[in-house]
Amino acid sequence: MDERGGVAASGTEEHAPFASPRPGWAEQDPRDWWRACAAAVKKALRSAKLHREEISCVGFSGQMHGAVLLDTKGEVIRPALIWCDQRTDAQAQKLAATPGSDRLIQWTCNPPLTNFTLTKLLWVREVEPANWERVRFVMLPKDYVRFRLTGERAIDMADASGTLLLDVAKRAWSAEVLRRTEIDRELLPTLFESPAVCGRISKEGADATGLKEGTPVVAGAGDQAAGAVGMGITRAGVVSATIGTSGVVFAATDRPALDPRGRLHTFCHAIPGRWHVMGVTQAAGLSLRWFRDRFGAGPNDGHDPYERLTAEAAHAPVGADGVFWLPYLMGERTPHLDPSARAALAGLSASHTRAHVIRAILEGVAFSLKDTFTIFEEMKVPVDRLRLGGGGARSPLWRQIQADVYAHEVEIVEAEEGAAYGAAILAGVGAGAWKNVDEACDAVIRVAHRVRPIPENCTVLQRNYQTYRRIYPALRAVFEVASRASVN
Ligand code: XUL
Repeated sequence: MDERGGVAASGTEEHAPFASPRPGWAEQDPRDWWRACAAAVKKALRSAKLHREEISCVGFSGQMHGAVLLDTKGEVIRPALIWCDQRTDAQAQKLAATPGSDRLIQWTCNPPLTNFTLTKLLWVREVEPANWERVRFVMLPKDYVRFRLTGERAIDMADASGTLLLDVAKRAWSAEVLRRTEIDRELLPTLFESPAVCGRISKEGADATGLKEGTPVVAGAGDQAAGAVGMGITRAGVVSATIGTSGVVFAATDRPALDPRGRLHTFCHAIPGRWHVMGVTQAAGLSLRWFRDRFGAGPNDGHDPYERLTAEAAHAPVGADGVFWLPYLMGERTPHLDPSARAALAGLSASHTRAHVIRAILEGVAFSLKDTFTIFEEMKVPVDRLRLGGGGARSPLWRQIQADVYAHEVEIVEAEEGAAYGAAILAGVGAGAWKNVDEACDAVIRVAHRVRPIPENCTVLQRNYQTYRRIYPALRAVFEVASRASVN
C-alpha cells in the first residue's frame, strides 16, 4: 500500500486446504503457510518492480484461534489445530464446569468454546502428552509467519482475545486463567497493540521473501479485526457482514460489550482502547465451497466456478421455493454454541433443482448471519451503516440476498483485499504515514457501491427467516445422534 492507501502491488499463493482426518477435526501444517507467504511476497515484489528499500513497514493478518506448537528449537511439533476444529468439546465442557463459564466470562469476557486456542492446548496436553512435553512456544497462525520472518514471538490484542487466555477488558494475559489451567506464561508470545512495531525482518526472513533485513513489522491483527479496519469498521454504528470461509458480523465498541449468554465474542479491536463484538457462522463461504467440491460448479463455460454457481442460483426464485439450508457443516458458534450441530437441507421435493439448492445455500448463510443482528438488537448494539466484505460481497446476487435478508441498505468499499488491506493500514500507522487508525481509515476507505433491499424480496425472506429459526430446535436431537455416529 502506498501513502494514499492505493494498492501498490499484491501477490497470492495458495496453501494446502485443511486436513480433516476425523469428522470435526481441522489441521494444517504451519510450514506450508510460511512457504506460501514467502512465495506471495516475492510475487508482489516482482509484479510492481518495487525495490525492497521502498517498503517501510510490514503488517500481518491471518486465521484466528489456531494452536501452533513449537519445540525448543522453534520446530513445528504437530500440525496446528485450527479455528474450526471441533474435537475439544470435552475440554470446553470441563472448563465450563471448573473454573466455570461465569468466571471465565468475568476473566476473559468469553465462555469456553471448542474454537478457542486454550481448549486445543488442553486437548494436546491430555491426549498427546509426549507432544505436550516438547512444547516450548505456542503461537497463532499469522504469528508463526512473523516468527519465521523476524525471529520474534509477538501477538496483537485482537488475535490474543480468541485464545481464552487474555483478560480482554484489561488487555493483558489473564493471570487467573493461566493459574487455573496450569498453562505456563512463558509459552505465550509478547502482547502488542495492532499498529505497534514489534520486530524487524531477520536475515533468514529477508532471504526467504526478498524483503530487506531490518524492515520493521507491526503486530497486525487476526483476520476479522484486520478485515474490519480494511472496511473502516472502527467506530460504533458502522457494522460489517463478511462472508469468507467463515461468516462474521462485526461491530466496534468503546468498551467490552457482553452478551450474557456468550453467543457473541467480545474481543479487543485492532485499535488501542477499542473493542468489538462479533457473531460467527462456522461454514459460510465454506458451504458454497463444499457444494462446489462435492457436486461440481456445472458445465465449464470459462467463468469462475463461484460465478457459475451464483448464476445458476439466480434461476430459482427468491425464497428457493421453500428449500432451506442450515450451514452447520463444522458445528456452529453463533447463536447455538454447539459443536455437534450438523448441516441440513430441508424442504426438498422432486420438483426442486440444483438452482434451488444453491440459492438455498446463499440464503441460509445470510439467515445464519442475521442471527447475529437479532442478538445485536437484544443487546442494543447500533447498526446505522452496514458494509459487506469477503467473497459474499463480490457476487451481485449474494449482495442482494444479504440486503434483503438483513432488510438494510448495504455498502461495499472500494478496496477488495479485506484483511490484507487492513493489515497494510496498520503497517502504515506503524510507519507513521498516519497518526492513528481512525485517521488512516478516514483517509483511505471509500464506498464503491450501495445496494438497497427490495421490499417484495424482504417480505418473502423475513417470513422464511422465521421458518429457518425453527429448524435447528426441531433437529437438535437428531444432530446429536448424527454427530456421535460420525465419530465412531
Ligand atoms: C473468527 C474465526 C474466523 C477464522 C477464519 O472467530 O474463527 O474468522 O479466523 O477465518
